Amino acid sequence: MFTIDTDTNLPKNDLYPALNKQLAALLAGETDLICNFAQFSAFIMQTVEQVNWVGFYFAKQNELVLGPYMGKVACTRIPFGRGVCGAAAASMQAQRVADVHAFDGHIACDSASASELVLPIVVDGDLIGVLDIDSPIKNRFDEVDQVGFEQLLTTLIQGTEFDWSL
Ligand code: SME
Repeated sequence: MFTIDTDTNLPKNDLYPALNKQLAALLAGETDLICNFAQFSAFIMQTVEQVNWVGFYFAKQNELVLGPYMGKVACTRIPFGRGVCGAAAASMQAQRVADVHAFDGHIACDSASASELVLPIVVDGDLIGVLDIDSPIKNRFDEVDQVGFEQLLTTLIQGTEFDWSL
């Protein structure tokens, strides 16, 4: 059994480096994409406060298709350019939205979601998909959270083989 012993009450400047270390230990020795992405989702849900949905969409022919996640059931396909996830995919830029209800085209998968952070997953210049993190409180994610999640995502990408097929 893998025990997560990070103090989740650490100030966020200390929390993300501690989580990153623990994530690297959790993923060590395993490179399978579905396995690692599923573990990542559960790890975040278990360690980051005020998150109601975390998971992945994979880029397939100008659409995002739902991948491993933790949270309520979600929409399965999102065209590039639609909603927060679609905006991140189309622009290949992070989207940090303080109030999703004020975001034009936001797709409400869980009505509890109030703010959202979406990071594109780019490997060797190609868009693989996006990481989506939703919070039930407005303005949940700041620059420290974004940089922290970018580092966690880097650890995930570095520990995963992307020449996969289903
Ligand atoms: N709210 C997202 C859709 C995905 S769910 O939140 C899981 C969006 O607007 O892209």
